This record gives sequence, C-alpha cells and structure tokens, in this order.
Amino acid sequence: METIEAIRAILEKGNVVAMTGAGISQESGIPTFRGKGGIWERYNPAIYANVAGLFGVFLTKPYRMRDFILEFYETIHNAKPNKAHYILAEMEKRGILNSIITQNVDNLHQEAGSKNVIELHGNMLRFRCTKCMKENKFDEEDLEEFIYRLKRASRLQLIRLIFPKCDCGGRYRPDVVLFGESLPQDEFGRAYVEVENSNSLLLIGTSGIVYPAASLPFYAKEHGVAIIEINPSPTALSHIGDYTILEKASIAMPKIFEFLTPPI
Ligand code: OAD
Repeated sequence: METIEAIRAILEKGNVVAMTGAGISQESGIPTFRGKGGIWERYNPAIYANVAGLFGVFLTKPYRMRDFILEFYETIHNAKPNKAHYILAEMEKRGILNSIITQNVDNLHQEAGSKNVIELHGNMLRFRCTKCMKENKFDEEDLEEFIYRLKRASRLQLIRLIFPKCDCGGRYRPDVVLFGESLPQDEFGRAYVEVENSNSLLLIGTSGIVYPAASLPFYAKEHGVAIIEINPSPTALSHIGDYTILEKASIAMPKIFEFLTPPI
C-alpha cells in the first residue's frame, strides 16, 4: 500500500491526537529553535532559555533582553496560522482529531480555530502572577500596545512592563516554561491520557529532543498507538514512527487530507 493511502486508512479511523512543535509554525514566519536560522543560533539557550540566565541579561544588558522579548512578540504578532494549523482545526470539527498537544507558545492553533489544545510549554500571550497564579491573556490590542511600549521603554519601565504588578502584590510574568522549570502538571497529565486513549499520533514539526515532552511519543508506542511523523528532516523520533513523511507541514498535510471524504 502507498504510504499516503496507509496513513489515510489509519487517520480515517478517527481518534487521532496531534503533537506539534516549532516546525508547524515555521511557514507562518516563526523561526524554529534549532537548525539553520533557528532562535538558538542567535541567542545562546544556556543563557536565554532559563530564568537565571535571563535575569543576568536583564541586570547587565536590559536592552539586549528587551530586544529578545520584542523579537518574540513581534514575530508572533505578525504570524498567521498556515494550512497545517487550519487542517488540524478542521479535523477536530469533523470529529477525527481529539486534541492537539503542542510545545508551541504562539497561540496559532487557537487562532486557526482549534479548541482542545494542550499547551505543554505555556503561551506567550498569557501572563501569570508568580504569587497568586492569577492569569491575564493578551488580546490583539493588548499585544500591539505592549510592543509599542516595549520599544519606547526606559530601563525602569522595562521591569514594570515585562513583570507588571498584580493586585495581590506579586508580579506577573509571561506564562511560558523555561529550561529547568516544571511543565504544567495538569496539562502534562491530560496529554498522557489523550495519547493513551488515541488510535494514532500525528507528530508534526518537532525535533523530539526536549524532555519531558518528547517522552509522549514513546508512551504512545508502548500503548500500540500508530505514529505518523511529518517533518522535512528525520528526527530523534523517526525510528519509532510507523510512517514518516519528509516534507514541510503545509505541503504534507493537504496531500494527506485531500484523500479524506469529503476532502479538507
Ligand atoms: P525545534 O526547533 O527543536 O525543531 C523544529 C523541528 O521542525 C525540526 O525537526 C525541523 O526539521 C522541523 N521543521 C522545520 N520546518 C518545518 C516545516 N515547515 N514543517 C514541519 N516541520 C518543520 O523545535 P521543537 O521540537 O518545537 O522549549 O522544540 C522543542 C522545545 O525546544 C521548544 O518548545 C522550546 C525549545 O527550547 C522551551 O523553550 C521549553
């Protein structure tokens, strides 16, 4: 059987879960972390991916820190979901896909219309009080204003902008998981249950080297879940995949789903 046909036969059974990484948003204009042109090529992750490192940059080179944050928020602000995001949202609407487990913090799955999105590494548009845990989510206007003010902020204003005060006296911070921090346990637990109860796992655009997220496909394999990988390059997870399509997400996804009836 042709690979695409075999994949279609698996996906048509429904009960699909998708797990996505930075690669799915690459064609929306958001660079991946690793590889050529990746974020970690320009910002050393040993410094920029953990609280202690970021705090050090903030104290010694506040504008370098500002530029790092600004780049993230501007990129997300300019990005729109691509075909792959929309196809996943449509699969959910049609009852084929149960949920998306994402490592991305860009909110593009929700923008595309997906409802059941499990965010393992948080969301850049959400801020969380480090004391009372209250959450505050940016809408489009908030984001625009944040970027506008970030560009013009003095050193002191930078602290107030990035870590605004909460009513409880604590301070908010972007609700994202940095290296060395725990994943949100509820989300991670839900992800395990979703994987365990699925027939197939669609792995899209992740290098599969960041744990504990990368443990989920192995858990799927143990539970007899079929693994279909979409990635232009082989990854650390390819060897456990039942099928790998070595193509960009926005090319591979329409190819697979035009075969569904009715086609997506
Ligand atoms: P990576 O940057 O590690 O990997 C991106 C993957 O996407 C690579 O395997 C690419 O080959 C693939 N890719 C590139 N373009 C693609 C396209 N158009 N379509 C499909 N795939 C494409 O990103 P993640 O695996 O998401 O964590 O990284 C995992 C975590 O590492 C991130 O969530 C982040 C990072 O450090 C934290 O910050 C905690």
